[in-house]
Amino acid sequence: MVGLTGRAVASAPMGFPERRPRRLRTTPAMRRLVAESRLSVDDLVAPLFVKEGIDAHEPVGSMPGVAQHTVASVTAEARALADLGVPALILFGVPEEKDARGSGADHANGIVQTAVRSIRDAVGDSLVIMTDDCLDEFTDHGHCGILRPDGVVDNDATLERYASIAISQADAGADVIAPSGMMDGQVGAIRAALDASGHADTAILAYSAKYASALYGPFRDAAECAPQFGDRRGYQMQAGNGREAIEETALDLEEGADMVMVKPAIAYLDVIAALRAAFDVPVAAYHVSGEYAMVKAAAERGWIDGDAVALEHLLAIKRAGADFILTYLAREMAETLGA
Ligand code: PBG
Repeated sequence: MVGLTGRAVASAPMGFPERRPRRLRTTPAMRRLVAESRLSVDDLVAPLFVKEGIDAHEPVGSMPGVAQHTVASVTAEARALADLGVPALILFGVPEEKDARGSGADHANGIVQTAVRSIRDAVGDSLVIMTDDCLDEFTDHGHCGILRPDGVVDNDATLERYASIAISQADAGADVIAPSGMMDGQVGAIRAALDASGHADTAILAYSAKYASALYGPFRDAAECAPQFGDRRGYQMQAGNGREAIEETALDLEEGADMVMVKPAIAYLDVIAALRAAFDVPVAAYHVSGEYAMVKAAAERGWIDGDAVALEHLLAIKRAGADFILTYLAREMAETLGA
């Protein structure tokens, strides 16, 4: 008989096995000792939604436990996360007004910029503040870029918008700019803009392998950014492609990305593992809204133990090779892990 490592595995007389992996599973302490993957508060990044023009935060129906925040409530949430030891958050803005070019996205007093300044005031450097650099929350058509007359997203016109958004977010105090629109050349355009505007120290977390996924549905409720026509398949990757993720990531690194990301996570663990093997930069994974909603919905019905499945999901993402995880579970996980 041959074991997993290719060694011959001896059987003792009577056919009983000599190798007994179960010896290392006997007690909780033993299992802790031999654990290959661990989840810690340090692995967590909390995605937060902040909406302009509301007086009180509003729950997101399809994401139990997640809210559209006011600037005041998002700041309070950030403070709570910092107290729990969560190292980072990522902000998504929902503007009061939308137009074709997403004017609210790079406004000095836009909702994201205002929230960044307020959070920085409250928590100082104890949290890494990331901002999503994209247009879909800000455009009236809901696409991630500027549209050509035929309705197709114009790649290069969009790059100018992303560059301007990055500068305004960095001006407000963001530590990390995270472009999520999947335009070609977006990392290079943003890097150049940041460098030219005195923000050489602002980092870029590239959504390198972002798939056109049906798992973003609840996010589109939270960020009010569902495309008004068509879909995002003209710019986001198709589910069946794995090799292409390596190519996308290599391009982002050549263009100056400091960290890269795979999104969604659970359905793309092989992609996380492939990026981990191919590159040495930090690899992030985004456990997205649909992944979160599925766990919450099944748990609500009593069909699964939601807390246990949540932990299993996040641990699997770590095992696949992610260095950190963007997850709506961040706060409750931090509370559990810290307890
Ligand atoms: C686009 C963006 C999306 C998500 C993050 N950034 C939505 C999309 O591409 O349609 C989805 C995140 C999630 O589902 O949790 N700016």
